[in-house]
Amino acid sequence: MRNLRNIGLAAGLALSVSVSALSAYASEPTVPPAPTPFPAEGKINYVARDSILEFKALPQYHEPDWVTEKYVKTGKLPPVKDRLPKEPLVFKTGNMQDGIGVYGDTMRHVIGGRPEGWNYGAGQTQGWGGIDIGLSECLTRTAPLFQVEAKDTEPLPNLARSWDWSSDGHKLTMHLVEGAKWSDGVAFNADDVMFYWDDEVVDPNVSPLNGATQETFGVGTTLKKIDDYTVEWTFKEAFPKQYLYAMAYGTFCPGPAHILKPQHPKYSKNTYDQFKNAFPPEFMNMPVMGAWVPVEYRPDDIIVMRRNPYYWKVDEKGNQLPYLNELQYKLSTWADRDVQAVAGSADFSNLEQPENFVASLKRAAEANAPARLAFGPRLIGYNLRMNFSANGWGNPDERGQAVRELNRNEDFRKAVTMALDRKALGDSLVKGPFTAIYAGGLSSGTSFYDRDSTVYYPFDLEGAKAELAKAGLKDTDGDGFVNFPAGTAGGKNVEVVMLVNNDYTTDKSLAEGVVAQMEKLGIRVVLNGLNGTQRDASQYSGRFDWLVRRNDQELTSVVQNTEQLAPVGPKTSWNHRAPESGEVDLMPFEKDLVDIVNKFVSSEDNDQRASLMKQFQKISTEHVYNVGLTEYPGALIINKRFSNIPQGTPIFMFNWAEDSIIRERVFVAADKQAKYELFPEELPGKPGDKGPMD
Ligand code: GLA
Ligand code: CA
Repeated sequence: MRNLRNIGLAAGLALSVSVSALSAYASEPTVPPAPTPFPAEGKINYVARDSILEFKALPQYHEPDWVTEKYVKTGKLPPVKDRLPKEPLVFKTGNMQDGIGVYGDTMRHVIGGRPEGWNYGAGQTQGWGGIDIGLSECLTRTAPLFQVEAKDTEPLPNLARSWDWSSDGHKLTMHLVEGAKWSDGVAFNADDVMFYWDDEVVDPNVSPLNGATQETFGVGTTLKKIDDYTVEWTFKEAFPKQYLYAMAYGTFCPGPAHILKPQHPKYSKNTYDQFKNAFPPEFMNMPVMGAWVPVEYRPDDIIVMRRNPYYWKVDEKGNQLPYLNELQYKLSTWADRDVQAVAGSADFSNLEQPENFVASLKRAAEANAPARLAFGPRLIGYNLRMNFSANGWGNPDERGQAVRELNRNEDFRKAVTMALDRKALGDSLVKGPFTAIYAGGLSSGTSFYDRDSTVYYPFDLEGAKAELAKAGLKDTDGDGFVNFPAGTAGGKNVEVVMLVNNDYTTDKSLAEGVVAQMEKLGIRVVLNGLNGTQRDASQYSGRFDWLVRRNDQELTSVVQNTEQLAPVGPKTSWNHRAPESGEVDLMPFEKDLVDIVNKFVSSEDNDQRASLMKQFQKISTEHVYNVGLTEYPGALIINKRFSNIPQGTPIFMFNWAEDSIIRERVFVAADKQAKYELFPEELPGKPGDKGPMD
């Protein structure tokens, strides 16, 4: 019977069976229907980890001619060899799709976010879309691992050029790149790393943009400076190699201590708020370790970034990177990013909003199309998350508290997940073979996904209503919406406030779909639509009942941001954190999830790790830790004039494609170069000065 029903559902035959005949079985959990195969278009050329880069001195170094002529010969800059570290990071030619590049041109990005300022370490966004990725360099790097053979997968060296483990595995010594400089020429060293750790990560009054806390690196983990180019980690567990991923983009990208420290409350009279806001978007030439430096900002118009003359990476011929002189960020909308990229008035987009798939595919298929468009695996997904804190995170009022109690009730969660018609949700975004039924838990595109370990509650409205009744909810006043039991929140209608990011069409469409489907169940959901920055603030401070969230790396790669899979620390989960004072009030199944994640983090055995993630998936989906909505593949859109774009780059896996394509090695062949640079032959000026050097 079970098998028959699965086949029926998968083939859409369920429609021909009467609802009553089906309902006796329909609420029985099963595995999700097998998704329509969607072959990724670009085949990835898998490589060994050590074939990508190395650190070494080269006999000579080069830079764009105009830099030598205009800046070195006039004494404004030291010669290139003196601006580079003793042993720069060298990208190996064999791993570069089109080989050694040439200098020139710009990459024109479009984003829907807006910059709050340049203080990433204190939690400010620069507007996303890869701006911060272009400015930041982190201890390790993981984005390019999408092309590394699975058995060889370990984060790549970056600011940490190498590391060694103590024999007991509790200490990790990291050697920083020696002689590298910030974009203003000041030395980068262990003090920058320690400032980030002590005064941003560990200081409870500061939270870096992607939410790094001490627990991100393991409960009880410490870090200390050994000398200017050596730092030492101490972990409670032995050989927790997993934390090397937390040292990559997002959570360990130190800012310039020489600029930040004088503004930090520990070393100044500033408040924490003043520290956070000390570098507003108008503050130009913020020192960075990344390949480009912000030199121009016009509100709601554009941010322009120019090449960092102190960048510490080169190609095998000794050409200082980046090849591209400029990055532009037009401040528009995310939907406009797709439109402009396929039209050729911009250069890059992660095609991630299915509403734009059909039009983009059509344009990209035309013979004169300016851009390439290639789909990857089904790694873009959305889930609904319920706030599980019943002990005060986000200070809920009486109604909010009553909703939290419901969220913690498994019958209630089952009712919600069973009332979702995921086929209809997916089809409302785009028709065709793109969207698939997503039960929740890990994305089906990750290597850790196991369909047989995934518990799926098929769409069954009657069954859902029965679950709701089990949770004690009845419509006592007959208006179609269930009420809280008498004595709870005044016996009023259950009203759930759902947080949603208004910057994305897809987030809004899905949220509206959920509202309509919940109405049929008898639950009134009210949308709280905010722009990305405000939405993040509400989420981080726990001010939501439910939220719609695009899947993050913990679900698409598992090894990146692993601690976000469960409440392993007070602030690691998206939907269950500790209040200001207090602990996370874990439910029993969450305790199991936490144990599994902790075991996963400290295990080095690949078979054991795979089996732990199967257990994770089973418990997480069976108890509905998050509610899957839909998942689909995304496509990278990139203008055809660019070279060195690795084939098959997924738009999202360990990180976003802006990092995975390794922009510092991307170039435009001489005969294809366009005159798009807004500040030709200019370099960044002094920190805080307006505009480029002259
Ligand atoms: C936003 C966009 C993504 C990607 C990231 C990079 O989230 O939606 O496609 O560009 O920024 O941080
Ligand atoms: Ca009612």
